[in-house]
Amino acid sequence: MPTNWKTKLIHSEARVPAGFRSLATPVYRGSTVLFDDAAQVDDRWNQYDGGYTYGLYGTPTVLELACRICELENGFRTFITPGGQAAISLINLALLKAGDHILVPESVYAPNRWFATRMLRGFGVDVGFYPPTIGAGIAGLLRPNTRLVWCESPGSITMEVQDVPAIAQTAHAAGAHVVLDNTWSAGICFDAFAHGADVTMQAVTKYIGGHSDLLLGSITVRDEALYRKLGSAQQLVGIAVSPDDCSLALRGMKTMAVRLKAIENSALDLARWLAQRKEVERVLHPALPSCPGHELWQRDFTGSTGVFSVVFKRDFTKEQIQNFVNRLNLFEIGYSWGGVASLAVAYDFSGATGRPDYGHRIVRLNIGLEDVDDLRADLEQALAHI
Ligand SMILES: Cc1ncc(COP(=O)(O)O)c(C=O)c1O
Repeated sequence: MPTNWKTKLIHSEARVPAGFRSLATPVYRGSTVLFDDAAQVDDRWNQYDGGYTYGLYGTPTVLELACRICELENGFRTFITPGGQAAISLINLALLKAGDHILVPESVYAPNRWFATRMLRGFGVDVGFYPPTIGAGIAGLLRPNTRLVWCESPGSITMEVQDVPAIAQTAHAAGAHVVLDNTWSAGICFDAFAHGADVTMQAVTKYIGGHSDLLLGSITVRDEALYRKLGSAQQLVGIAVSPDDCSLALRGMKTMAVRLKAIENSALDLARWLAQRKEVERVLHPALPSCPGHELWQRDFTGSTGVFSVVFKRDFTKEQIQNFVNRLNLFEIGYSWGGVASLAVAYDFSGATGRPDYGHRIVRLNIGLEDVDDLRADLEQALAHI
């Protein structure tokens, strides 16, 4: 029993009452995990097999978030990463080696493309891009060494909905795995594993976090073999997350159903209203027929979320489009989406390969939880000044 107060600071015998029960998941912080005896010491990343070994592989708070995302996505197991982009890079590092070939849709989130062109090519991986609407036509691009086919449905900014089942069936027949960025659906309105995906990732930063105050990602795998590959890569790359951020994500998750429903309704309302405006050429919202792949959305999705894009008519200059965005009062300008505040960002695809001919005329909107009539009035006054 320690008697010196300095030792008591480290090895205390103070005891609080037992039996506390609450609705919140406790925040377990910890790098060192204690073993019962010397023989048990083992740096084993798979903490589901025989218990916790090291904070890097997740404290109970981290694993609670992982298990809950896995439950929602109907996967085998989930890993939590420090952001969506970290999930993308970890998947590639775990599943690829020099000499392999991967296929990535032209509509993919830009840093996913850059990881492929700037990092994977440097490691000797052969990187190819394909039109997102290719469907079973992906067969013509598959090679004997194709190991991964990335999908993102709908695609970033240009919003093409992909035929994931057709791509998966074709890729599987050629021995390749299919990875899906399922962030737009929040892992909810597209059942990725039922439609053939082998691995999914999400930017938990978006709808699960839900309040624009954290950065996290998730990777969910279909089976044990993929779980082992991802787990050992996570250990070697040394990617760890903060239990505090996971606690915020767990809190965000509890209100996700009501947030998603409200956001879906407002986004649909505004998308339909914008489609009628004389300034607008087309609205790229998967639930509208004007969005490429709309019929696939109808077939495969159970709902929609709050991110869509507006393509303005050809006579509008880049300056006019930027003026429109600058004139908005309630829509803030900023990256990342899925939070409670509405956002607008103008993009310029002039000269970009593999993107539709929208040039500088495309604005992506993230619809938040403001009153929909206020948002409409804001869009209307900005359109009046375009
Ligand atoms: C579709 C998509 N995937 C992945 C990411 C990356 O997520 P994070 O910002 O958490 O790294 C984003 C972020 O904008 C995204 O939009």
